[in-house]
Amino acid sequence: MKETATILFSLPGNEDLTEKLSRLLNAEVGETSIRQFPDGETYVRILSEVKDKCVVLVSTLHQPDEKLLPLYFLSKTAKSLGAKCTCLVAPYLAYMRQDKVFKPGEGVTSQYFGQLISGFADSLVTVDPHLHRRSSLSEVYSIPSEVVHAAHSISRWIKENIENPVLVGPDSESEQWVSQVAEDAGAPFMVLEKTRHGDRDVEVSVPEVEAYKSHTPVLVDDIISTARTMIETVEHLKKAGMKPPVCIGVHAVFAGNAYEELKKVGAKVVTCNTIPHESNRIDLSSQLAARILATM
Ligand code: R5P
Repeated sequence: MKETATILFSLPGNEDLTEKLSRLLNAEVGETSIRQFPDGETYVRILSEVKDKCVVLVSTLHQPDEKLLPLYFLSKTAKSLGAKCTCLVAPYLAYMRQDKVFKPGEGVTSQYFGQLISGFADSLVTVDPHLHRRSSLSEVYSIPSEVVHAAHSISRWIKENIENPVLVGPDSESEQWVSQVAEDAGAPFMVLEKTRHGDRDVEVSVPEVEAYKSHTPVLVDDIISTARTMIETVEHLKKAGMKPPVCIGVHAVFAGNAYEELKKVGAKVVTCNTIPHESNRIDLSSQLAARILATM
């Protein structure tokens, strides 16, 4: 049987990861032209042959609103040119946190976003989607999806770089990553209590740290957005007399000047390369390549 060829396309800003994936998958990188018309509408053109190929669109989805239309147009265009399938590789998947109606009048936008993407891509590959009140991505996305878990790579980084770590999860949602990372790294862990009063107003419980004064605290969370969660936790640990902490996030969203603010409180910041950022130290491209293969 003839094997289906794969062609990767990078949406703007995803060139490094696309190059890595193309080497790992031994697949070509295709060419597109994507630009705005003078009136602000989006123009897309596929310049490479996609007929009968599996088209992989690489686009991480922080600041997702502006990315969605180019992705939609590219996916539809690829299909109109005879592509056999389209796979969206979105290492960071947006909108996963609005997974319930918190206040009357709101919508469950994670669901709507999932329906939108499931309407134009045939499959999805992502990294640690924020599954809090949902147990699996298939509750939100109707297309087949493959998930990379960063925990193992994070614990390897910790083992190679931190002496005597104690893992700290800033809230109960982070327990899933922190407990796994701690187990893999053979380190103790603690999970704090967080109350969010507003987008940038976060309260974190004072941790019991007496037993860990000689350890290096390593905070692990999936998303660092405003960084308020990390900053609050770092402040508590500092007040409690602990060593300067290391903050590890899977997804370097860093809204506004969140990264600078987090560094200002004395934290070393390390992230995975799901969103290109200067703090990226943990490369997940080989796990992503393996998951892409699994969708085909
Ligand atoms: C919580 O739902 C997530 O796991 C993160 O803790 C949260 O997204 C971090 O947000 P921020 O950086 O804005 O405090």
